[in-house]
This record gives sequence, C-alpha cells and structure tokens, in this order.
Amino acid sequence: MNRVLILGANGQLARNTTRIFLRDTEATLTLYLRRASRLKNPDSSRVKIVEGDVLDPETLEAAMKGQDVVYANLAGAMKAQAEHIITAMHATGAKRLIFISSMGIYGEVPGERYRSVLDPYRDSAAVVEASDLDYTIVRPGWFTHDDAVDYQITQKGEPFRGHDVSLNSVSDLIVKLALTSGMESRRSLGVSQV
Ligand SMILES: NC(=O)c1ccc[n+]([C@@H]2O[C@H](COP(=O)([O-])OP(=O)(O)OC[C@H]3O[C@@H](n4cnc5c(N)ncnc54)[C@H](OP(=O)(O)O)[C@@H]3O)[C@@H](O)[C@H]2O)c1
Repeated sequence: MNRVLILGANGQLARNTTRIFLRDTEATLTLYLRRASRLKNPDSSRVKIVEGDVLDPETLEAAMKGQDVVYANLAGAMKAQAEHIITAMHATGAKRLIFISSMGIYGEVPGERYRSVLDPYRDSAAVVEASDLDYTIVRPGWFTHDDAVDYQITQKGEPFRGHDVSLNSVSDLIVKLALTSGMESRRSLGVSQV
C-alpha cells in the first residue's frame, strides 16, 4: 500500500498530509492538481506531479494506473468528482479510496444544522458509500493549525463529539488509513479533537 495518488493536491489539508507522508513514511506520491505550476516538487525521488482535473477521465485514469491508494482531497462539484473517481478506479483496478468530506453530513453534530452548504459533501459521500470500493470517508471538524496530534473518531450513526481538529491530526489519520491494509474499510469516520 505504498503508492498513493493525492487528488486536489494543492488543498490545505493535502499539502499538510503530503508533508507527513514524506516525513514519516516511505510512500511514493503522485500529486494530482489543476495548474500544477503552483506546486514545487518537495522530493523528486518519491513524488511525481501530474496536472489534471478530476473531471477529465483520460488524465485521471492515466494517473491512477498502478496506484495502491487514492486519497481524494477535493471541494466544489464533489458528487461528479466522486462519480469520476469511482469510474476511474473500476477501469484501473484501484480499490482503496480515502475520501475527505465534512462533519455534519448526516446531521450528526448535536445542535448544528448545516443544510445546503453541505449538499455536495452529502451527495458525494452517498455515491462513495454505494460503491463496491474499499473506501473510508473522513468527516473532520473545523481545521486548526495546532501542532498537536490529538483526536477521537466517531462512527457513522454516532453523534459527532467536539468541533475542531488540527490539520496534523487529520493528516495522521489519513496516513494511517492509507498505509494500513483493511483499516476502517467501508466506514465513515468523524474526527475531532479530544
Ligand atoms: N476548513 C475546514 O475547517 C474544513 C473542515 C471540514 C472539512 N473541510 C473540507 O475538507 C476538504 C479538504 O480541505 P482543504 O482545506 O484541503 O480544502 P481546499 O484547500 O479547498 O482544497 C480543495 C482542493 O480541491 C481541488 N479541486 C476542486 N475541484 C477539482 C477538480 N475538479 N479537479 C482537481 N482538483 C480539484 C482544488 O483545486 P484548485 O486549487 O485548483 O481549485 C483545491 O486545491 C474540503 O472539501 C473542505 O471543505 C474543511
């Protein structure tokens, strides 16, 4: 499980997770993003940068060939993105998907109603959950820049606990999910500071 494709690699969380992958693991990374000139290659011996849009099937499939893990760190038209990712995974035989979503998609945050702003997150999660893939959906709380790695997980069906979570905590979870075979497979995890 050593070859990881990061979709939306210029995102804030993706950049932080790339740093942790390179610091703590031996994974090789393919960073997939639009307008690739924005990103400097942090380690050309282990990192390849591919310019592409997730909604471009040809480029996406080419980047996905031979990858062990697809880590989707996206925003915007997330339902269509999820559909394109699943199609490309079927075409290339990739099975493991880590899909970043948000807290609140199931109405699981006590006292909060996020309504339509979360529709793309809700709809894309439903598409991922309906697939046959080895997926894990990650529903983080609000990101903080604390250095601390300090988090708790709640499963789908449980109330979300807390509100915030450090980027480092979410990255720690993503790296573990990516490199540990079978970890939290076909589950949707709330993640928040303890
Ligand atoms: N901030 C928080 O507190 C918080 C809390 C919970 C969940 N989240 C969610 O967690 C996710 C990851 O967070 P983040 O901070 O890393 O988000 P981010 O900085 O907005 O990154 C999302 C990335 O998705 C890329 N993207 C969008 N459409 C694409 C497409 N069609 N093809 C390729 N790339 C595409 C964007 O690329 P471009 O730069 O090219 O537009 C962007 O770099 C987001 O959905 C965010 O809303 C955030």
